[in-house]
Amino acid sequence: MNRIAFPHMGTAARTIVLAIALAASAHAADQPTHPGPANGGRAVFQKWCMPCHGVGADKPGTVALATLYKGAKPAALEERTDLTPEIVRQFVRHGVSVMPFFRKTEISDSELDALANYLSHAKS
Ligand code: HEC
Repeated sequence: MNRIAFPHMGTAARTIVLAIALAASAHAADQPTHPGPANGGRAVFQKWCMPCHGVGADKPGTVALATLYKGAKPAALEERTDLTPEIVRQFVRHGVSVMPFFRKTEISDSELDALANYLSHAKS
């Protein structure tokens, strides 16, 4: 048994461990992605599109598309089956409404190819 009682130290230690864990995961998220052929498009989506087009009521793109299509199409882009690579490229390079366009320094042409194939479910 630990006879020296410092009740706050346990909490502090846990806080430090948590902070280190968070810093480590944030650092991992900052690493440049090197998309492989299998999951490249998904990685690009998660980095650039997920904040707005992920699943959830806090995702402005998903909310906007739910309003636009009123249930006729899935609100989350990854669940759509009607997107073509051309449509994805068009929106990504030109943007729409509050959606920004993405420069080649952000999403390169090859990353955009992978993303377009991923969202159109193209088998490549
Ligand atoms: C800042 C938030 C935001 C980000 C980031 C964003 N989008 Fe969007 N996107 C939207 C909004 C909002 C709409 C709906 C605009 C409208 O028509 O009202 C939209 C619409 C779209 C559409 C059109 C869908 C349709 O059926 O009309 C596509 C395709 C699309 N986004 C793809 C992407 C991709 C791919 C990415 C990542 C590279 C991305 N978006 C990043 C907010 C975002």
